[in-house]
Amino acid sequence: MTNPRIVILGGYGTFGSLIADQLAPSGAQLYIAGRDASKGNVFADSIHAQFIHCDARNTDALRDTISGKYLLINAAGPFQAKDYSIPRACIEHGCHYIDLGDGREYVAGIRQLDDSARAKGAFVCVGASTTPAVTSAAAAELCRHFRRIGSIKVALSAGNRNQAGVSTIASILAYVGLPVRIWQGGRWRQKTGWEMGEFFDFPKPVGRRRVQLCDVPDLALFPSMFQAENVVFKAGVELTLFNYAIGVLGLLRKLRPASNMSALAQLLVWFSRLFKSLGTTHGSFAVSVTGDSGAEKSLAFVAPQNGPRVPSAPALLLARNVLAHGIPAAGAFPCVGFISLAQFAEYLAPFGIFVVRGENGSWSSA
Ligand SMILES: NC(=O)c1ccc[n+]([C@@H]2O[C@H](COP(=O)([O-])OP(=O)(O)OC[C@H]3O[C@@H](n4cnc5c(N)ncnc54)[C@H](OP(=O)(O)O)[C@@H]3O)[C@@H](O)[C@H]2O)c1
Repeated sequence: MTNPRIVILGGYGTFGSLIADQLAPSGAQLYIAGRDASKGNVFADSIHAQFIHCDARNTDALRDTISGKYLLINAAGPFQAKDYSIPRACIEHGCHYIDLGDGREYVAGIRQLDDSARAKGAFVCVGASTTPAVTSAAAAELCRHFRRIGSIKVALSAGNRNQAGVSTIASILAYVGLPVRIWQGGRWRQKTGWEMGEFFDFPKPVGRRRVQLCDVPDLALFPSMFQAENVVFKAGVELTLFNYAIGVLGLLRKLRPASNMSALAQLLVWFSRLFKSLGTTHGSFAVSVTGDSGAEKSLAFVAPQNGPRVPSAPALLLARNVLAHGIPAAGAFPCVGFISLAQFAEYLAPFGIFVVRGENGSWSSA
């Protein structure tokens, strides 16, 4: 295929811009879509792409944006947990679709679009970001070492100087203080988003950071995928005070469950920028798997800098694979099993991001 047309919705956002920048030399005709024409045009010009003005909530604008395109990469976020309007519109136009969105129900429920995607020959893949794409690749590699899986634990912490985008903060606020179902002792139990806080020891230079319970696709997908007895996913930000501040929002949410916390995302991003000079660029995520004998194996990706390359890697690598080899299959899938751990490690190494392995609670260099 010569010069396929690819549109990146949210292509000048935090992760969208990293994907766009890396896809620019691919030979594809690149389009950057979003609601802010001045930001969008400046960024599109800088990578020799074209800007398309599009509010994805506007059906006509979305249809015009998708029409004639080979692939749409969505880095704008799903706007509600069960809103499949963007992937549905792509399927209707026979446009392939890759989405960084990591809402638990959104990713776990995508199979409901499988029949319509297959009928149109479209590849639809959601959760093309750290969770579940990279975490599942790491868990799969660790689970190989055990006959039966006792527990899978994922912990993630971002460096304070790596500014999170509004869409990422909105997706965290969507579950803070609300019930979260987790698989514990072979059955579903109800906990609360951003509770179960603990300090977790990441490999150097990240070190000890606070993490709390998150409502992510891994919690829904891993129990059956790996036949695990327990699955938990915790994340946090570098500055301990911010973790507690988000916890306070959770307490308020518990008192008033109907409050729309996601609307605070813009304000929180603005507020966190005031503290950007504190902390570091060091981030990491770690996956630990315990076998039924109690032995534990762990694997962490450590980013002393360039941390945002990790969440942007799956969509980028998947898009490159599709451009090079065509779609892996027609249908609608969570982003698990499409990219290997070795592919992630190879792509991330030039950015100084490395893998560390651990056993029974202690880390050693890979
Ligand atoms: N799975 C994971 O591990 C993981 C980790 C991190 C992030 N993510 C996901 O990655 C996605 C991007 O996050 P981010 O932090 O990069 O977001 P961001 O910096 O806030 O960027 C979002 C982009 O989308 C655009 N946008 C927002 N609403 C739009 C609309 N209605 N129509 C068209 N464009 C719109 C924004 O531009 P305008 O506002 O100017 O339109 C912006 O360019 C989110 O879905 C987030 O949940 C996943």
